[in-house]
Amino acid sequence: MPEPVWWQRGIVYQIYPRSFMDSNGDGIGDLPGIRQRLDYLTWLGVDAIWISPVYPSPMADFGYDISNYVDIHPVFGTLEEFDRLLAEAHQRGLKLILDFVPNHTSDQHPWFLESRSSRTNPRRDWYIWADPRPGGGPPNNWLSDFGGTAWEFDERSGQYYYHAFLREQPDLNWRNPAVCQAMHDVLRFWLRRGVDGFRVDVIWYLIKDDQLRDNPPNPAYSEGEPPHHAVLPLHTADRPEIHAVVAGLRRVIDEFTDRVLIGEIYLPIERLVSYYGADLSGAHLPFNFQLIQTQWNARAIAALIDSYEAALPPGGWPNWVLGNHDKSRIATRIGAAQARAAAMLLLTVRGTPTMYYGDEIGMTDVPIPRHLLQDPFERNVPGIGCGRDPERTPMQWDASPGAGFTTGRPWLPFAPDWQETNVATQAGLSGSILTLCRRLIALRRAEPALAVGSYSPVHSEGDVLAYIREGSGRRFLVALNLASRPAQLTMPAGATARMLLTTYLDREGEIAPSLLPLRPDEGVILDLSQ
Ligand code: GLC
Repeated sequence: MPEPVWWQRGIVYQIYPRSFMDSNGDGIGDLPGIRQRLDYLTWLGVDAIWISPVYPSPMADFGYDISNYVDIHPVFGTLEEFDRLLAEAHQRGLKLILDFVPNHTSDQHPWFLESRSSRTNPRRDWYIWADPRPGGGPPNNWLSDFGGTAWEFDERSGQYYYHAFLREQPDLNWRNPAVCQAMHDVLRFWLRRGVDGFRVDVIWYLIKDDQLRDNPPNPAYSEGEPPHHAVLPLHTADRPEIHAVVAGLRRVIDEFTDRVLIGEIYLPIERLVSYYGADLSGAHLPFNFQLIQTQWNARAIAALIDSYEAALPPGGWPNWVLGNHDKSRIATRIGAAQARAAAMLLLTVRGTPTMYYGDEIGMTDVPIPRHLLQDPFERNVPGIGCGRDPERTPMQWDASPGAGFTTGRPWLPFAPDWQETNVATQAGLSGSILTLCRRLIALRRAEPALAVGSYSPVHSEGDVLAYIREGSGRRFLVALNLASRPAQLTMPAGATARMLLTTYLDREGEIAPSLLPLRPDEGVILDLSQ
């Protein structure tokens, strides 16, 4: 195997910039704020930060509606501030990954304003326009992910435009070579500035059916699901032509050395892995969100890891994600005790881990009172849990009134428990989840076997998930009790196993008996090397 590169060895940490650190008291996080917290990130031990969009935007979807791809929104700072952040990150050995949103622009982007201005405008075909269906109404049954039809009627030109998300987010037409060219140049603009790669927003959405055929109904749809699940996205996502588009993005990345292409993709494993591309010509890391979607129990997760490992193409590098700015936080999904086992899983299973800011201190979803709602998804599709504000609340740095995040009024409220659940408090506690995460990261950095070694499952009973990581002459057994009752694991015959780290942060150095008892929710890493 060739020497692993940084995005294979390293840990990615996602920053939602509105909520990480506010340097100017406006209640919204910004780039200088991130810069002020770089020392925290190196103390924690992560290798790369991915920053959700910071470009000029009307903020209809909090930055995922971009009106200028090559500048910084004033609320976050300036291009100069960005360069300074990048330089200071690099000085510390931290990589910086930007969010690239190629599927759609803002409806205020000059390209769309031109496109909309008339049917004959040269940029008309930069977006997806279609006539009303005979007799009137939207061209077909395609639905917006954020509720309602995906087609918006433009009175002036008498046609509809397609938007997979908000009507303020018209989809670009990636079948148009001029669009590809312009967007490739956006990548080059940032790559030349020195960014280390991109996380590409909804990469599997970029190409839609050119005949605009209706999507089939979803027979499994039930009340209470988001309304767009009523049809199957057969003609609006994961089209065969997508792989040529992804390969085009990858070629631009490869014009520069040592950069990474990550794709946001919610698809079943067998479809997901196709985004590595033929002969690995696609994304380096098609994001693997299976841990967010799979039931949290040892059987399901063991089966998941097996099928993912089996599905990877030769040379395809695995990756794992526990949470992000669109999904309920891990500590809310599985509880505080299991969140510690989850951290051990994320940081010891084979593949690049992506951590979501705040999960390292066990932040939970924060219920948002109606009058403070921000997320347009919740406004459009109220009451069934679509809202994403709860997992986007500000980082809790300390126990002060502004949680060390702001001197002003935060754009979203803090969790009620911020006075205990914060970095400053937990950094001083030897048993905290923050201490656990930091120790796990340090161990992973010190022991290449845990980062880039081989993976083999260990047969286990009941609630225990167990596996071995091996490489560089070292061998580790990880055993995770994924339930809140005691369990046990039969140790491999003949092995002397010394406890290296447990999620309870005790028992270190003990030699494991042949039948190893595990406490409720306990995870352990054992050294089998001797
Ligand atoms: C992605 C982003 C999400 C955004 C959507 C539309 O799923 O992660 O936050 O709303 O794309 O850009």
